[in-house]
Amino acid sequence: MDRIQDCSPTTLVLVTAVVILVVAYMFKSLLEKKPENLPPEVPSSIPWLGQAVSFGQRPLEFLTEAYEKHGAVFSFTMVGKTFTFLVGSEASALLFNSKNENLNAEEVYSKLTTPVFGRGVAYDVPNHIFLEQKKMFKTGLNIARFKQHVPMIEEETVEYFKRWGDAGERDIFVALSELIILTASRCLHGKEIRSVLNEEVAQLYSDLDGGFSHAAWLLPGWLPLPSFRKRDAAHKAIKQVFYKAIAKRRESQEKEDDMLQTLLDSTYKTGRHLTDDEVAGMLLGLLMAGQHTSSTTSAWLAFFLAKNKDIQDQLYEEQVSVCGSDLPPLQYDQLKDLTLLDRCLKETLRLRPPIMVVMRECKTPQKVKGYTIPPGHQVCVSPTVNHSLKDQWGQDNDQFRPDRFLSDETSNSEKFAYIPFGAGRHRCIGEMFAYAQIKTIWSVLLRKYEFDLVDGYFPSVNYTTMIHTPYKPVIRYKKRSRPL
Ligand code: HEM
Repeated sequence: MDRIQDCSPTTLVLVTAVVILVVAYMFKSLLEKKPENLPPEVPSSIPWLGQAVSFGQRPLEFLTEAYEKHGAVFSFTMVGKTFTFLVGSEASALLFNSKNENLNAEEVYSKLTTPVFGRGVAYDVPNHIFLEQKKMFKTGLNIARFKQHVPMIEEETVEYFKRWGDAGERDIFVALSELIILTASRCLHGKEIRSVLNEEVAQLYSDLDGGFSHAAWLLPGWLPLPSFRKRDAAHKAIKQVFYKAIAKRRESQEKEDDMLQTLLDSTYKTGRHLTDDEVAGMLLGLLMAGQHTSSTTSAWLAFFLAKNKDIQDQLYEEQVSVCGSDLPPLQYDQLKDLTLLDRCLKETLRLRPPIMVVMRECKTPQKVKGYTIPPGHQVCVSPTVNHSLKDQWGQDNDQFRPDRFLSDETSNSEKFAYIPFGAGRHRCIGEMFAYAQIKTIWSVLLRKYEFDLVDGYFPSVNYTTMIHTPYKPVIRYKKRSRPL
């Protein structure tokens, strides 16, 4: 009794709420008539919470073990929801070939994205509208633009890394995250928005980014959490920055050749132009979609290259052989000839795809491999798991071996075996931009530095963040003194 009296009212309310949830969940589970032919279940004795801890701590191992035990389709409970995973190319086809009205993306993503991007864009609108918005993005991301982007990215990278000096040990993930906000803002937002990107605005992006958290996904949006409040304040402040830039551009007599201009000139099928708020939301969406994905991939690439010094040296030689021994400024057309760099990036995306799970909410019963997935299940495919299956990738599935992509067997692998950018109607539209950006940044870094692991430390995967970043990502670097 004394202990209860010691508790604060907030603790009591929280504990009571959890108890009520668990009891209600147990009753619901007992009363519900189970549909037939459900996928096999990974059992858990913990009501409501289910497998949340096991999955949260070691998701790849958890899913691989479940696959080995139950096969390509299995379900488990976490925080009161049932998740059904489809493993391997054949089972994954259900998700990637599905229509949005059967397996729905908005239901699972909009709680995270709408507070960050705002209303009227992405998962806040019906999918056929988002598809029109994606088409506008695709128009803006074309080869002629990429040709302009490469020198901009090179210039930003050279400028950024001046602060690193000739040698040292630094957090490469922090550096690449900061750099990629600058490069993406310059290439995707235009000169007006890039010119006001100072430390204050960078902090706003960081607060906005705090909105992409497990808490935002799991907890009600009205809870007065500090991270939610910061996110909402940052959203308002950044939109003001964007509105000013949009107004300036609309008033300008000259037409720029960039994404902002594409969006201002675009119309929906109905003939309606985008509102300022939609343009601002789409610009935010573009930046955020490419930010963590590209910075995490670039940081993991750093560690794979630091561990594989022979490949790092070959990459430097490739710079010399493709671009010339005096290493002149990069051009977009040269990037395609940097084929080893291409394979290294591809292999990094295989081993560490930044989006570990793509998810949809099941709206109508879905048949797969003899099972029926009922409405309400969260249907998931994990690129990380599909990229690690031994039957597809061989016994060295966990090794960094970029040349595996030279073999016909790998190139002709099953349709959904390699899916770092997803597939189907929700497929990424940023792949070519991401490749151009990361290859340009890495060309600059390879020309400037040699990278080593700090005392052999290769980071483990930080599963606490939504996108799985390297844990304690400090790397050793020194100026490349002479050509090889
Ligand atoms: C290494 C970099 C990137 C990776 C690995 C990546 C990965 C992905 C994946 C897996 C999806 C599918 C999500 C799903 O099916 O639920 C996706 C969708 C998308 N990505 Fe990317 N992405 C990257 C960079 C970018 C960039 C740079 C942009 C923008 C310039 C971008 C914009 C988008 C958009 C608009 C979608 C569509 C979402 C939908 O239709 O539901 N991505 N991305």
